[in-house]
Amino acid sequence: MKTQSMNNANPNCCMDFYQLPITQFLLGDSFHPGGLKLTKQLAQQLLISRESRVLDIASGRGTSSLYLAEQFGCEVVALDLSEKNLTITRALSKEKNLSSKITTTVANAEKIPFNDNTFDAIICECAVCTFEAPQLAANEMFRVLKPNAKIGISDVVLNQKLPRKLDNLFSTIFCIKGALSSQHYVDLLQAENFKRINQSQADWAIAEIVEKIKAQSKLLDTVLDSDLLSVPSWLNGSEAALKEIEKFIAVGGLGYMVMTAKKPSPLSATTP
Ligand SMILES: C[S@@+](CC[C@H](N)C(=O)[O-])C[C@H]1O[C@@H](n2cnc3c(N)ncnc32)[C@H](O)[C@@H]1O
Repeated sequence: MKTQSMNNANPNCCMDFYQLPITQFLLGDSFHPGGLKLTKQLAQQLLISRESRVLDIASGRGTSSLYLAEQFGCEVVALDLSEKNLTITRALSKEKNLSSKITTTVANAEKIPFNDNTFDAIICECAVCTFEAPQLAANEMFRVLKPNAKIGISDVVLNQKLPRKLDNLFSTIFCIKGALSSQHYVDLLQAENFKRINQSQADWAIAEIVEKIKAQSKLLDTVLDSDLLSVPSWLNGSEAALKEIEKFIAVGGLGYMVMTAKKPSPLSATTP
């Protein structure tokens, strides 16, 4: 990929990266593997309906929040660290006449500014792997979820030790470096007393998103040839990094999973 200087500063963290216009160009509107197909699957598993009040934790541009409000008629709170992304969510809500259904909250998933037992469902897509303290976030998810309500998480799974060649900026911003093993995701929820934990593999989603990034990178080169667009120099080397990521996927090192779990009612909390 060719680069021209526009914003040469490295994104310091995933939040920086996920609020750049170039990110939307590379990934599309949904910043998680599997896109709205997996969001729909999660929503159905969580039994989201018109009566539901849903918390979308680390909501990015709010693509899933908008989808849930539009397709399931529910109320959604989109929570993210990035004010920039939430501004986009508000603008899109207005554009789609969904402002009465969607509210936004700038907050850290590790300290959710809502009372206990507030939400009928929680979704958290491709974000646990970006949290500094995932256990704290799991604890907060459990706290704000109503008893008998369900949480749905989808995330990148690290099945093998990260190869040295992938210990770089791209792994950080593409959510690979912070990814956990599938058992570790289960452990996070079990430690908070979530029950009925159900996990399924969706490895196709990670392969699909890498293909998409590759295709968009190629397109970017074409645009650059015509001098229509400039991209940050820190994207230099993405071609080689994507090749390494593909190799790691091919040997089963990297995958994607979808999981749901239920917060038990206080009466059943002591029974297994
Ligand atoms: C990979 S994107 C996923 C966005 C969205 N869930 C989606 O699927 O389109 C990760 C998001 O997590 C947000 N994020 C990272 N750490 C966070 C935290 N501790 N609390 C809240 N949001 C966080 C980032 O700002 C970014 O929007």
